[in-house]
Amino acid sequence: MSNASSLTAIIGGTGLNEYPSLLISHEKVVTTDLGATSAPLVFGELMGQSVVFLARHGHPHKLPPHKVNYRANMLALKQAGVSEIIAVNAVGGISENMAPEAICIPDQIIDYTHGREDTFFDGIYRPLDHVDFTYPYDQDLAAQLSFAAESKNIITQKTGVYGATQGPRLETIAEINRLEKDGCDVVGMTGMPEAVLARELELPYACLALVVNRAAGKSDRVITMDDIRSSLEVGMHKIHAIIAGYLASKDNG
Ligand code: HPA
Repeated sequence: MSNASSLTAIIGGTGLNEYPSLLISHEKVVTTDLGATSAPLVFGELMGQSVVFLARHGHPHKLPPHKVNYRANMLALKQAGVSEIIAVNAVGGISENMAPEAICIPDQIIDYTHGREDTFFDGIYRPLDHVDFTYPYDQDLAAQLSFAAESKNIITQKTGVYGATQGPRLETIAEINRLEKDGCDVVGMTGMPEAVLARELELPYACLALVVNRAAGKSDRVITMDDIRSSLEVGMHKIHAIIAGYLASKDNG
């Protein structure tokens, strides 16, 4: 039986433009005061829980990372009544153990993006304010996702630093070396401003970062879309299993 007060949002990134196991009830095209979402919100049930799915890059995949209207997406989810957000992000692996198909549940983030609409508190939409962002991800939700992975025998890295880059191009070796020195374990293009906007809206937010390639200079292979696609295909099964395990566990309190 689904929990009436709980509505879990899943934001799908590259390789997750639709959610095949979701029992869809309806879709809603949403335009907020800050513009349109990337795609219609897709409402339904998964493992007996109410879920809303949003394709971050649109469906079909069309929006590059810097053109996603993150504010509209997050505002629409808030207005739809979501109680928590699980973000799925494809990333490059920087640290040694972050090989293709590995999963990191990051606990920290460094923002290297620029020029994105990255706050609701801009003095126009909302008066200036400063939110605490010491812990950018919801620790409880992240721990529950780790636990769900463990209970399905899926290995994840339970902490890690997500470096958010501008894209859409991949990085140079020097850029990845810099991120590594900064302490980044994985690199992706969509982690910010999504995480901070969730915080500004007081929405618990955690990330499942799926490694789809070794970051630039971290292997002797050129990064190809074919390799990325094949890691996505294999790795996404694990992501689905973790989310299903997490949602199933919600019934038990
Ligand atoms: N860099 C940045 N973003 C990414 C990568 C990468 O290597 N792979 C997937 N998203």
